[in-house]
Amino acid sequence: MKRKTQRLDKLLAHAGVGTRSEIKQLVRAGAVTVDGVRVKDSGRQTDPEHETIQVDGETVRYREFLYVMMNKPPGVVSATEDNRDRTVLDLLDAGIRHYELFPVGRLDKDTEGLLLLTNDGKLAHNLLSPRKHVPKTYYAEVEGLVGEEDRMRFADGVELDDGYRTLPAQLVVLEAEESREGARSRIELTIHEGKFHQVKRMFQAVGKRVIYLKRLTMGTLRLDPELKLGTYRELSEEELHGLKGGESQ
Ligand code: URA
Repeated sequence: MKRKTQRLDKLLAHAGVGTRSEIKQLVRAGAVTVDGVRVKDSGRQTDPEHETIQVDGETVRYREFLYVMMNKPPGVVSATEDNRDRTVLDLLDAGIRHYELFPVGRLDKDTEGLLLLTNDGKLAHNLLSPRKHVPKTYYAEVEGLVGEEDRMRFADGVELDDGYRTLPAQLVVLEAEESREGARSRIELTIHEGKFHQVKRMFQAVGKRVIYLKRLTMGTLRLDPELKLGTYRELSEEELHGLKGGESQ
C-alpha cells in the first residue's frame, strides 16, 4: 500500500505545535525527532501513521480531521465568517483554530442547540446531501395550540410559502395550553431535509409562530445535555462511528 507522507512543518503546524517559523526554530534547536532521530530539515517528508514524531520528547498526536459538537447559543451565526455578527468559529479555542473547522449545515442566528463542526468535507457532504434525508429533531415553543390536525398535516408534508411541499415530518406535541399570556405549545419535530428556516416556515404554513427553537439531533448524533450554551466538545468514538455509519442511510 502506498504510504501517505507529508511535509513535517506542515504536519506540526496542523497539529497545533506552532507556526511554520516557530517549527523551523524548534527543528534548528534539535527539539524535533522522527523515530528517535533528530530532524535537520523541517521540510522533510514524514509518514504520521507509521513514524513517531516528537517535540521536546512529547509525542505529537496527529489527526487529519476533528469533529466537534457545539451547543450553539442564540446571537451567533453558523458561518465561517460574517461582516456583522460573531460566528460559531469565534467560540472555538485558539488551540483548535488551525483545523479550519466549518459548521455542517446552518442554524438560524436565534436558533440554539446541536451544531456539528468538522473539517471532514466528505462526512459533511454525506450528512447534508438532500438525497440522504438525514433526520433532524428540533424542540420548539410555538404560539398557538398545536394539535392533532397539525400532526397529520406535517405527516403528509405541508406547502411552504414558496410553494415547496415538505417531506413528511413527525410532530410530537409535548404540551399545549392556554394561559393568561395566550396559547403556547411545546413540541418536537423531526424533519428529513433542511430548507431555509424550515421549521419556522412549516409552522407558519399552519398559521402558528415558532418563538423558540433548538436542535436536538442530527442523524444519530444527539445534543449532550451536559453541554452548556456556547460550549463544545469533541465527538466520542461511538458518536463518530454512528454518524459515519449513517452515511449510507
Ligand atoms: N428550521 C428553522 O426554521 N431554523 C433553523 O435554524 C433550523 C431549522
